[in-house]
Amino acid sequence: MKKLTSTTLFFLGLLFYAMNSMSQTNGNLAPRPPMGFMTWNYFGVNINEQDIKTLADAMFESGLRDLGFNYIFIDDGWQGGRDNKNNMIADPQKFPSGMKALVDYVHSKGMKIGIYSDAAQLTCAGYTASLGFEEQDAKTFAKWGFDYLKYDYCGAPSDWQTAIHRYEKMANALRNSGRDIVLGVCEWGDRQPWLWAKKAGGQLWRTTADVRDKWYSGSKVNKPSELHGRGAGILDILNLNAELSAYAGINGWNDPDMLVVGLYGKKGAPSSDLGGKGCTDTEYQSQMSLWCLMAAPLMITCDVRNMNDATKGILTNKEIIAIDQDPLGKQAVRIINDDVWQVFVKPLANGDTALGILNISNKEQTSNINLNSLGITGLKKAKDLWSKKTIKLDTKNNFKVKVASHETKVYRIN
Ligand code: GLA
Repeated sequence: MKKLTSTTLFFLGLLFYAMNSMSQTNGNLAPRPPMGFMTWNYFGVNINEQDIKTLADAMFESGLRDLGFNYIFIDDGWQGGRDNKNNMIADPQKFPSGMKALVDYVHSKGMKIGIYSDAAQLTCAGYTASLGFEEQDAKTFAKWGFDYLKYDYCGAPSDWQTAIHRYEKMANALRNSGRDIVLGVCEWGDRQPWLWAKKAGGQLWRTTADVRDKWYSGSKVNKPSELHGRGAGILDILNLNAELSAYAGINGWNDPDMLVVGLYGKKGAPSSDLGGKGCTDTEYQSQMSLWCLMAAPLMITCDVRNMNDATKGILTNKEIIAIDQDPLGKQAVRIINDDVWQVFVKPLANGDTALGILNISNKEQTSNINLNSLGITGLKKAKDLWSKKTIKLDTKNNFKVKVASHETKVYRIN
């Protein structure tokens, strides 16, 4: 009886907390979904200052920075423990010039830079983490000049209360650090962070287990925790994240994890674990399309110093990126979800509508979509944002278009 009472009280408290969070402002640190390059999928823990500098150079030279990909996110593996005053230090072998120098370099390229830690004693890869040192570590990150912290949850207790408390603690520490630092919550959706992470002080929250460089694990899961260990592909993650559109908005984004575009099954990389054998360019283009429709943070992870034309084409599509970064900040609603089709509708700030049509079957199919039932009526013009062709639409008629297996068509309709 006693246990039941405290559980009930906790969930009532959480409900109050979630409702309250809707009305709270949380600074204006992420008015659009953050975009950039994240080290994890390709490099794992094998990161160093030389690579990060050349990656920043490549982001600049390839034009990706000017398209909005303006962060370099350093993931796990940078840490070298603590000094005799318990200040965190970077691994001196990997970062011989020190973190401050690297941060200054990235800033000099007109980019921002993120760092990584974990709400336990050790990170997921076993490096020094921040539990019990939140204030001190936040000050260190601020002193070095970091603009973002990805805060992971390996090695921490599984209950909700502790998670909320630990994220709040780091969010407060960042707020006290004297620098604006965006907080990315990374507990993989296991405790429904879309209900509490914004109020706790985060600007984005991972909604699933780690993405692998693959299309699909083969069967549907009902909740994020079921994805652990099976290797989440693009479609696995889509299936969960697409349900969460009500929770995303300005300064608080669902994060369905990194883009695997251009990795092509890179051997030895974390993205190749658990069946990450690589995807086709059609599938990579779909991930880009779907992540943009879902207003997701866009974190490139392929080696941007050596992209082929297909990868470059997918990542630098300005009009697709504009769907992601649209100032209205709405995540597309998935209106159709059957054995063949997933259809997404995203309202845009200027009154246009983005329409996404994904064919999940394993052969080419022709759509037959009643646009009126999606709320699209009248005579319209629709621009295919990949082929760049504009067509006239009379929405009285069903919309028919050929879509290849695993392809996503994206239209901007006005
Ligand atoms: C977890 C996170 C990943 C990555 C690794 C680093 O698995 O979900 O995104 O940060 O830890 O160890």
